[in-house]
Amino acid sequence: MIPGLPHDIDQIKGFLAEDEAAALYQHALETSARGPVLEIGSYCGKSTIYLGLACRDTGSTLFALDHHRGSEEHQQGEFFHDPELFDQGAGLMDSFREFRRNISAAGLDDVVVPLVSDSETTARHWRTPLAMVFIDGGHSLDAALTDYRCWASHVLRGGILAIHDLFADAHEGGQAPYAIYRLAKASGLFADLGQVSSLGLLRRL
Ligand SMILES: C[S@@+](CC[C@H](N)C(=O)[O-])C[C@H]1O[C@@H](n2cnc3c(N)ncnc32)[C@H](O)[C@@H]1O
Repeated sequence: MIPGLPHDIDQIKGFLAEDEAAALYQHALETSARGPVLEIGSYCGKSTIYLGLACRDTGSTLFALDHHRGSEEHQQGEFFHDPELFDQGAGLMDSFREFRRNISAAGLDDVVVPLVSDSETTARHWRTPLAMVFIDGGHSLDAALTDYRCWASHVLRGGILAIHDLFADAHEGGQAPYAIYRLAKASGLFADLGQVSSLGLLRRL
């Protein structure tokens, strides 16, 4: 039981299994007293709420980074496109309004700092060590490699790097998140804590 979890959490649009969400919450709870947490890929705020609730309990802050224009698979004509999140005026995806509504309804406005921007642009002048980084942004190889290179080095010692959508078998899903998971394991910088469903967890040495 997670204190403060909205009763309608299952209604929030998103791509996170229950056991993965619980693991995110638990690791953020264990680490976030030491520093802020950052997620790349917030979408409508489902993972943000689990991480944010943990940060609230420890007095920490969650940076929720997303340009809110959707990943490749969210664009018109793609499998995960949601017409309710399409801004007709701009002709672009826009999940920010829904995100903001969900974070406010969960009472997390004073814990979650939205960074409505591209991952690489945001990382350019980033200096703050992070207790936990959750990578769930673009799933092309280029996007995943950029996220890993931009953010993994900011995880402080003893902190957590979490990567979503790991599929060892290409028939089950895209391989880019798995590729950066393998990079992290081979880097010698992280201890492998194993997987919870498709969520990979590593601890910075
Ligand atoms: C799979 S969704 C995130 C799902 C979310 N974590 C959840 O719990 O439901 C991926 C998100 O990454 C964002 N994204 C993709 N590439 C990005 C980039 N380069 N910079 C910032 N956000 C990006 C998309 O806008 C999209 O909302």
